[in-house]
Amino acid sequence: MKHQDQFDELKEFVLAAKGPEDVQARVVISLHKNFPHYNWAGIYRLEGQNLVLGPFQGKPTVHIRIPVGAGVCGSAALSQKTEVVPNVEADARYLACSLETRSEIVVPIIKNGAFWGEIDIDSDRPDAFGPDDVEFLEAVARLLSERL
Ligand code: SME
Repeated sequence: MKHQDQFDELKEFVLAAKGPEDVQARVVISLHKNFPHYNWAGIYRLEGQNLVLGPFQGKPTVHIRIPVGAGVCGSAALSQKTEVVPNVEADARYLACSLETRSEIVVPIIKNGAFWGEIDIDSDRPDAFGPDDVEFLEAVARLLSERL
């Protein structure tokens, strides 16, 4: 995996965590710190028919509750598949979080076979997320799911 060093550091963070909330906070801190193009990193958790924002790094967002099916986040909750949006302006589903955001990736977190929530990353760079980011973030989501 291309981002193996960052993954190994993140794994240490996760193993040192003191519980489910702490582990989520550590993951977003590590992602935001280690990748300059990850300008906003947060975790949404499914509660009923809404995604509720947990820990995040980056500018505050108005989207602290997103209905399943709404936005890129809500689409990923329905499909339970990673969503990569290379140009947010060209995607009608996109809910704006920051005016600077140009691209986005949303990676589902599956716990014990069920959709638990998702990792959401925004970038100020257009087309910031490639196959290496998908592979890395899906590995992070699997790691995280074991500690939730
Ligand atoms: N852009 C997301 C909303 C969340 S903010 O990016 C933090 C979406 O379209 O669902």
